Amino acid sequence: MKIANYELKRPDELETPVLIVYEHLVKKNISEILKIAGSPDKVIPHFKTHKSIQVLRMQIAAGFRSIKCATLREAEVLAENGVSEILIAYPMIHPKKLKRFINLINNFPDVTFKLIVGTPQHLEALSPALKSNNSQIGVYLDLDTGMRRTGIQPGKEALEMYSKISQYSNIIPLGVHVFDGQALYKPDLQERKNIVSETLNSIDQIWEHAQKNNLNISDNVVAGSWTFHLYPDRPNIRISPGTWIYWDSRNATMEELNFDVAAIVLGQVIDHDPQKDTITTDIGSKACSPDQPTEHRFKLIGYPNAIVTAQSEEHGVIKLNGEKISIGDYVLAAPGHACTAVVKYPYSLVSDPSGEIIGKYNHDARDH
Ligand SMILES: Cc1ncc(COP(=O)(O)O)c(C=O)c1O
Repeated sequence: MKIANYELKRPDELETPVLIVYEHLVKKNISEILKIAGSPDKVIPHFKTHKSIQVLRMQIAAGFRSIKCATLREAEVLAENGVSEILIAYPMIHPKKLKRFINLINNFPDVTFKLIVGTPQHLEALSPALKSNNSQIGVYLDLDTGMRRTGIQPGKEALEMYSKISQYSNIIPLGVHVFDGQALYKPDLQERKNIVSETLNSIDQIWEHAQKNNLNISDNVVAGSWTFHLYPDRPNIRISPGTWIYWDSRNATMEELNFDVAAIVLGQVIDHDPQKDTITTDIGSKACSPDQPTEHRFKLIGYPNAIVTAQSEEHGVIKLNGEKISIGDYVLAAPGHACTAVVKYPYSLVSDPSGEIIGKYNHDARDH
């Protein structure tokens, strides 16, 4: 079958729903980010999008040495596979997690691990755990410039928190971490540029404070896929998007970027409701991006007017709006959010450009 630029041989042999990754498009996306960033040293890709050792190897081969992650499982897989700098961008409080982290740093003494902290409680949990092991760790101040998820608000509180980090002998402040998730899905480029410039102002305030008070500061880690290309090329800025590796139908609405959707779901139409002008596919919420609003969970490639109107675990209902798709047809769905599509599958099948399945990427770091 061929839909738009996606070819797939013998879909009858692939039990649906199944995630298929086009390796040549992954490689294209890697060269695209290198074109934008200028050097792999400027990028700390987030591992959570693909969670796969094989894709990690492609990233390492392209020169990426530093990788960001959210879970300890991701950090373990990264350490076991030759990553020299690992940033766990997720606050760690639980004693079991801290113990696991200490084991990790003991098992991989040549790897530089870094963390984020956003409140005094993070420091209070981390410092004794490090002390019991005689370890020291570098951390970024997690600054919340508008997403309202984790991190400290810019201003006086953030400056005080930066000073507070410096009071711990086993926790070294490195700079600022910002995930500016408030820019997600904002089509207006100018609006996103404004978010970036506000974020930079808040970061600069912390740098001024650190330099005035002789506090250690050396670099910042910022951004996801909706802003990374809008940050200026500054020696103290490294960008940390993740979704770029596979891209997805929502990110593809950013007209200024030229990445390709590399991971798609093959599904099949299993029923229809002519009265309602809908078809029902086997791409349910267990198969694709359930974190998104229903209409954005996936887009059927080649049928621009078709819209997802309902999903249950194993069913995806699609309003046709004039498109012609019949029971038994195979469909290719571009996920609305690559990361939360990938995590639904223990592995993806790998296709060459002609649609021949040539292998598998295991989602090695799928669990916590
Ligand atoms: C802390 C953090 N950094 C970076 C990213 C990567 O952003 P994106 O998925 O938009 O590329 C994410 C994504 O959720 C994140 O949570």
